[in-house]
Amino acid sequence: KESKLWGGRFEEGVTDAVERFTESISYDWQLYKYDIMGSKAHASMLAAQGLITTGDRDIILEGLDQIEKQIQDGKFEWRKDREDVHMNIEAALIERVGEPAKKLHTARSRNDQIVTDLRLWCRDAIDKILIRIKQFQVSLVLLASKYVDLIVPGYTHLQRAQPVLLPHLLLSYVEQLERDAGRLIDCRERVNFCPLGACALAGTGLPIDRFKTAKDLNFTAPMKNSIDAVSDRDFVLEFLAANSIAAVHLSRIGEEWVLWASEEFGFLTPSDSVSTGSSIMPQKKNPDPMELVRGKSARVIGDLMTVLVLCKGLPQAYNRDLQEDKEPLFDSVKAILGMLEVCSEFAQNISFNSKRIQSSLPAGYLDATTLADYLVKKGVPFRTSHEIVGRCVALCVSKNCQLTELEMNDLKAVHPVFERDVYAYLGVENAVNKFISYGSTGSEQVKKQLEDWRVQLGIN
Ligand code: ARG
Repeated sequence: KESKLWGGRFEEGVTDAVERFTESISYDWQLYKYDIMGSKAHASMLAAQGLITTGDRDIILEGLDQIEKQIQDGKFEWRKDREDVHMNIEAALIERVGEPAKKLHTARSRNDQIVTDLRLWCRDAIDKILIRIKQFQVSLVLLASKYVDLIVPGYTHLQRAQPVLLPHLLLSYVEQLERDAGRLIDCRERVNFCPLGACALAGTGLPIDRFKTAKDLNFTAPMKNSIDAVSDRDFVLEFLAANSIAAVHLSRIGEEWVLWASEEFGFLTPSDSVSTGSSIMPQKKNPDPMELVRGKSARVIGDLMTVLVLCKGLPQAYNRDLQEDKEPLFDSVKAILGMLEVCSEFAQNISFNSKRIQSSLPAGYLDATTLADYLVKKGVPFRTSHEIVGRCVALCVSKNCQLTELEMNDLKAVHPVFERDVYAYLGVENAVNKFISYGSTGSEQVKKQLEDWRVQLGIN
């Protein structure tokens, strides 16, 4: 067996069980690009500070490039007995270029190395998610643009509430996604500080330049406190929390679309390309992708919980427990990227069933609140008008008709304040046209916001 890079004080090797239990290479190999990036910046800094020669630096940089290429070509052998990504790469570098490589770990610990890798990884992951969020927003806005005038029932408590324009509903998702993006952008700000040079926890007596490595790696600045730098995973938590909130948004869209695709609603039809069938029931066409969006949100939330619990009992500074942060982090990012991608594709492949939706609109007295507003305009206090319209609705229920179908004398019998102009308030179309408040479902408002989003998202 090869002796460990840390093996100096040890008289015997670890047991197979311990080796299997403690290794992280089976998943942290995914950090290789960032590990190499960090090592290159570190080696360049060491040379600039006269801690290694420029000759050794060049040998190290060249060796790291070759290793990176080997990894990319799938020709690198990841060894469990070398524990993690850092030692796999360092040991391979020593094998490849010899003595100079042994200087690379000067003024560095795996404790600052791992958290540097992780911050670099998170930065890129956030950027990837931001792109996907925008793609989904674009898909939603394009979908909304196809149905500018389509009125759908708006629900509260999943009971019919008031009529809304479909684009208004779709743009509500777009707004939520925008805040999801905002949270990730905020998180990225705090991710982007450099722990490298914190070493094990206390920094170093060697004359390193942490500002140089931070700058070379495009970090805002080095982290100010070396103990903090290696201790904390709050940036992971913040990232996972932002992902969780986004996942909850996506899950709710998933739920809504699954519901709307049901026979009972029948409001939307996904194309075959985003549906799957049943192995037993030949007639079935299921909206599985959106069900799985709803399902995968569980993972993303669980990943946040895992790391919260992981961190809650740790004393400063580095503890090996922290190795367990990676799988939930990778899992969360993989899930959210997949969810966003499939949501976007789903949005591009559904059609709303205008006829079915329209024929369902008379049900549920969606115009009742507009009727109450009518009475307010006639000077009736709102509480009273609420009561009057309630009685009108009761009348409709007993006559099994719509508010629009009540005769003038029916209305007068409920309250004398009703006049002929009331009919301009009844029916869903009239009702929608009466909305004028900022952010409302009124068509002027919605058209303006749709246009604003098209501009903001750079759609033609
Ligand atoms: N594999 C470790 C992790 O993921 C790297 C740091 C290990 N440091 C140590 N002193 N054992 O956290």
